[in-house]
Amino acid sequence: MEFTAKSGNPEKQRTACIVVGVYEPRRLSPAAERLDQISDGFISSLIRRGDLEGKIGQTLLLHSVPNTLCDRILLVGCGRERELHDSQYRKIIATTTTTLNDIGAMEAVFYLTELHIKGRDNHWNIRQAIETVENSLYRFDQLKTKKDSARRPLRKIVLSISSRRELSDSDAAVNEGYAIAHGVKQAKDLGNLPGNICTPSYLAEQALEMAEEFDSISTEIIEQAEMEQLGMGSLLSVSMGSRQPPRLICMNHNKGGDSKPIVLVGKGLTFDAGGISLKPAAGMDEMKYDMCGGASVFGVMRAVAELKLPLNVIGVIPASENMPDGAANKPGDVVTSMSGQTIEILNTDAEGRLILCDALTYSEKFDPDVVIDIATLTGACVVALGQHASGLLSNHSPLAHDLINAGKSSGDRAWELPLWEEYSEQLKSPFADLANIGGREAGTITAACFLSNFTKKFHWAHLDIAGSAWLSGDKKGSTGRPVPLLTQYLLDRCQSK
Ligand code: BES
Ligand code: MN
Ligand code: ZN
Repeated sequence: MEFTAKSGNPEKQRTACIVVGVYEPRRLSPAAERLDQISDGFISSLIRRGDLEGKIGQTLLLHSVPNTLCDRILLVGCGRERELHDSQYRKIIATTTTTLNDIGAMEAVFYLTELHIKGRDNHWNIRQAIETVENSLYRFDQLKTKKDSARRPLRKIVLSISSRRELSDSDAAVNEGYAIAHGVKQAKDLGNLPGNICTPSYLAEQALEMAEEFDSISTEIIEQAEMEQLGMGSLLSVSMGSRQPPRLICMNHNKGGDSKPIVLVGKGLTFDAGGISLKPAAGMDEMKYDMCGGASVFGVMRAVAELKLPLNVIGVIPASENMPDGAANKPGDVVTSMSGQTIEILNTDAEGRLILCDALTYSEKFDPDVVIDIATLTGACVVALGQHASGLLSNHSPLAHDLINAGKSSGDRAWELPLWEEYSEQLKSPFADLANIGGREAGTITAACFLSNFTKKFHWAHLDIAGSAWLSGDKKGSTGRPVPLLTQYLLDRCQSK
């Protein structure tokens, strides 16, 4: 999709379709008002007859409106003006996008970006519109032999801004919108790919392609033999039960001079059967999404490289399958992690922390400014927060604070849970330094507590995306989260420098 930000009067637009908002109850937005004036009350007379109340989700398509230069005008319900917040705005943009795509308008001018959203500005409206349009048009049909593509797909959208003064800022917003949308798309595609295609070696190949595509990125792949030399006994114990060899993927975006890097560690478990502690059959297919943390690292690296952010950002992805097999690790096994700490594996299905702990220890070598890991780590997080927020735990409150704020401003929110030392009682083992599970209570917190034993040397935050990374049911699919949150965090870091 092509997006441009422009200022201009609605009555002067020569385009296939102009999109303007109507508030509830039957109140015209300023752009709709202008069109109404030049058409001698054409729009208001329709509205008065009751054709459109202005509720969110409603649309009305008008043809041949007098004195306009456009082919059609799409009126879109915006709900009550006072109640117009982020999520309403996203719904309005999504409804508009699918309607335009269905009616075969190949280009459109959106006046919706001029709507007043509480606490938001022009920059946010534009960027969020781009992200939302791309989200609503996203389809994963790579693996279908017959694709149901629109006959006349929407190709070009002009996003209106109210004054020319905002133009340069709008161009920045468009670029950020593109970069985040591209990153989200990559994360979604990788997430939606099935486990038989998206294996650890497939992810490694994709990382090498990232280095081909972007000058700022270099990639290093660590294979099994090297992991053995490094002493990654915990990571290796997870991949042992699989025919697919593990990979430790490192992508390095180098544009921050000699500043300390921000390291992103993403869980890349390409299929989680649970291992010997086998998962139940129902819904097990969704465990192909267990690499969504890793996928989000790809997405963020892409966004950062496209925006050429002046930062050093390193993405580290431990990639493995978790399968039952004669060589698989067993409940009761004790393994030695790269840090030297020993771990008693009481449940082989708590494998995410086992691969992450070695990747976190490995990250020490980059002398990081901060380390953020992203993982579909616990079912307990889905119970606690559902799909709307990612779980956040951190050993450094300024970092937690920055991530929460980045979540708020990007609309990709996180919610903090406590990482109190009392919880680590639950991880005591009679046979090793640590157990890999902490019982039924506070599962998301004890998982993070486990990881905190491997992050003592740096500022660290953990994002549990078990609920936010994909949707189930009839909307089944990867969401691309938390690419917007993390990209926002990195954009904010550039501002504060
Ligand atoms: N990948 C899962 C977590 C998960 C489960 C995410 C369901 C989303 C939906 C993880 O590896 C896992 O199996 N965790 C176990 C941990 C338990 C054994 C302590 C869980 O959450 O049940
Ligand atoms: Mn598991
Ligand atoms: Zn898992």
